[in-house]
Formats: sequence, structure tokens, C-alpha cells
Amino acid sequence: MFITFEGIDCCGKSTQVKLLVEKLQQQSRDFVLLREPGGTPISEHIREILLDKKHSKMIQITELLLFSASRAQLVSEVIKPALQQNKIVICDRYVDSTTVYQGYGRGLSIGAVKNISRVATTDVMPKKTFLLDISVHEMHTRRDVGKHEADRMETSNEEFYQRVRNGYLQLAKEEPERFVVIDGKQPIDAIHDQIMKVVDEILPIPEE
Ligand code: TYD
Repeated sequence: MFITFEGIDCCGKSTQVKLLVEKLQQQSRDFVLLREPGGTPISEHIREILLDKKHSKMIQITELLLFSASRAQLVSEVIKPALQQNKIVICDRYVDSTTVYQGYGRGLSIGAVKNISRVATTDVMPKKTFLLDISVHEMHTRRDVGKHEADRMETSNEEFYQRVRNGYLQLAKEEPERFVVIDGKQPIDAIHDQIMKVVDEILPIPEE
């Protein structure tokens, strides 16, 4: 079972992934937790290149191909083998991040981005994708509170994030079966409950 989490920066993904993982541990389930970009030695190297602020010259196509290369490695080395062993795979960001950040956000052709993603993933797609939706205004408020040094991706402007958010909502509309859109402004527990309701429906009953 393959489950992904998506949303703009500061949407609360990481918190919800952590809560889900705690639940799966309590249920003694066999799972693999991953974050993108990253998850294999090669993918972690690529992550450093992508997020390094020194790389201000990186052109958009390089960015697209690096995110995709990182993912190709992750799918082949980790995701496919885990799914073949019937493990639950939870990924913090996956292919939809590329469609919205590099496609809708940066303005690269959505068709081209999707084609490259299909090559990178060999069509391995999640069964469910939780989209934690917050406004760009909310993202800025949370960023100011949590203040940390911005990485290269986080130096993008307001309109960029607006396009990213709208891109996500568009994808959710196109694939309503896969996407579960959750209002990210709700209390943490309420969001977790909504996620668990869906997860409990799609996972087999845990063995005693
Ligand atoms: P990260 O620090 O992992 O952020 P977050 O906690 O928000 O997931 O940095 C990942 C950044 O890379 C984030 O700004 C989103 C961006 N990104 C893309 O632009 N394309 C992609 O395909 C992926 C996976 C991430």
C-alpha cells in the first residue's frame, strides 16, 4: 500500500506523517517512511544540490530533472521492493510535488513534466494522496513563527506559491479517487482523525 502526503511548505505534512507513523507502530504494521527529495544515498546527494542556496544559477529544467532523478533512484531501490513485500510505504512528497512546483509553479509544460515523471516512477503511483491545503497567507504566518533559514526552494515568491497551491487543487479535481483534500487550518488532532479514517478503510485489518 502506497500513501503520499502533499501540500505547500508549512502545511503540516511532517506532523501528520509522524502521527500516522506512531499509529502504524502501535498496530505493529510493517511500513517504510520516506521523504522526498531523498531516501537513498544518491537521492540525498541530489537533495543537497537542489536545496543549496549557492545554486542560484540552477535552471528550471535542471531542477525538474534532478527531482526526477532522485525519485527514479528511490522508486527502484526502495519503493518498488517494499511494495513487492506488501509493506506500507509512506512518502512525504512524491510525483505531485514535481507537477505543481516545477510545472504549475515554475511554469514548465505540465504535459512534459508528467511525461518525465512517468519515466522516473515507471508509473508507480500512490493509492491515496493526502493534500493538506493551507493558504499562502497561512504559510507565511507559520514561516514567521517557525523562523529557520530558507533553502533555495523557499526563496520563491508569493505568486509562485499561489500557483503551486492552485496546481495541487487542480490535480485533486482531476483525480478525486486518489486525492483526499484536508483543510490544513484545522486542529492537528482533527486532521489526524480524518487521515486515520481513510487509512483504516484502505489497510487490511492488523494481525493480533
Ligand atoms: P523540504 O525541506 O523537504 O520541505 P517540506 O518540509 O516542505 O517538504 O524541501 C523540499 C522542497 O522541495 C520544498 O520546497 C518542495 C520542493 N520540491 C519540489 O519543488 N519538487 C519536488 O518534486 C519535490 C519532491 C520537492
